[in-house]
Amino acid sequence: MAAYSKKVMEHFMNPRNVGEIKDADGIGEIGNPVCGDMMSFYIKVKDNKLEDVKFKTFGCGAAIAVSSMVSEAAKGKTLDEALRITNKDIAKKLGGLPKNKLHCSNLGADALHKAIKDYLDKKGK
Ligand code: FES
Repeated sequence: MAAYSKKVMEHFMNPRNVGEIKDADGIGEIGNPVCGDMMSFYIKVKDNKLEDVKFKTFGCGAAIAVSSMVSEAAKGKTLDEALRITNKDIAKKLGGLPKNKLHCSNLGADALHKAIKDYLDKKGK
């Protein structure tokens, strides 16, 4: 089995911000074309900042760790800052991912960005 970093294992065992925001301001859903796994992000926006970020991930351990790390990195950030978070940043923050699991990190930031765009669309921006 490919070796996961301690950080990945830690986020996988104790994922932060799991769940759904009922009255979310924006929702982003993305499926991974490689494996068919799914990730959904929910955001709550206040004063142009991400007041709350939650996610639901139907995927492998790496995808769960990635979602958890994205939610943690995005919470409290301005929309612009959150839009600048990349999948690469997240993989780096997790101490790297095994090569055959890198595709799993391709969902996280994209799903977050999609939720922010959903919010901006709804606002008519
Ligand atoms: Fe599907 Fe990791 S195997 S996201």
